Amino acid sequence: MKTKAFVTGWPISHSKSPALHSYWLEQYGIEGSYEPIAVEEGNFEEFLAALKSNGFVGGNVTIPHKETAFRLIGNLDAAARAIGAVNTLWFEDDHLHGSNTDAYGFMANLDDYHSQWRDGEKALVIGAGGASRAVVYALIEAGFSQINIANRTYERAENLANDFGNSCFSKKLDEIEKLLPDMDFVVNTTSLGMVGQGSGNLPDLSGLSDTAVVTDIVYTPLMTPFLATAQARGLKAIDGLGMLLHQAVPGFEKWFGKRPEVTPDLRRHVLDIK
Ligand code: ATR
Repeated sequence: MKTKAFVTGWPISHSKSPALHSYWLEQYGIEGSYEPIAVEEGNFEEFLAALKSNGFVGGNVTIPHKETAFRLIGNLDAAARAIGAVNTLWFEDDHLHGSNTDAYGFMANLDDYHSQWRDGEKALVIGAGGASRAVVYALIEAGFSQINIANRTYERAENLANDFGNSCFSKKLDEIEKLLPDMDFVVNTTSLGMVGQGSGNLPDLSGLSDTAVVTDIVYTPLMTPFLATAQARGLKAIDGLGMLLHQAVPGFEKWFGKRPEVTPDLRRHVLDIK
């Protein structure tokens, strides 16, 4: 019998996940499916309750259901609990379990391009929304000793820094310039630079040291204005597409029993999706 997984959100038609999982299903010759299902905000609980009877082994959850899934699912792993949002579901011992694989995906992408992190490095995270929570958690797990969180709305940076404890510090956007010379790593987690979002004002990176690494979690366009500025300065600039690819790995393995590989060919395949 076909093993069935899903991705749900509202809207869901733009999701690249079906193409990504279908690529792996075909590559590994697995008889399975991964279908997009549009579920409105008010219908999510009902959708979860019917998963088993509809024959699903699990799936992905995206906007606007990630925080609702966190509240509704009793069995959560450490990452989901720390991040406060769930993006991956699966049945285990007949119970629904939830994880958040965004932090794993974020770090696995960085590791593909730069694996020489020393313990105790210093990071600047720009933005304090949902995506930022996963990034901050990943950096703490990776052993960064100082994580500065700068956000337009300072209160959100403060809340995030308080939630994650001693190694996190909240900053205002106009404090960034002063911090830069001391930072080993900078990540943009805001939607600034995303296609259709306008470019806004991201910081001038001229104060960063020559060995600093820069990344953006936005991957449309692949080379965001933020990354382009970093690259023009000769810094190592890592795009955000690999985070999407890697975050899908743990889910695929749970549902279909095979740990899939993130390869250059998969990257090309996902980039070609219109
Ligand atoms: P996500 O879950 O993708 O992180 P979010 O929770 O809406 O989305 O967060 C978006 C982030 O981008 C926030 O840090 C937001 O700043 P505010 O908290 O001040 O809203 C940031 N952001 C969005 N547009 C911005 C802009 N024009 N200038 C600066 N920051 C912006």
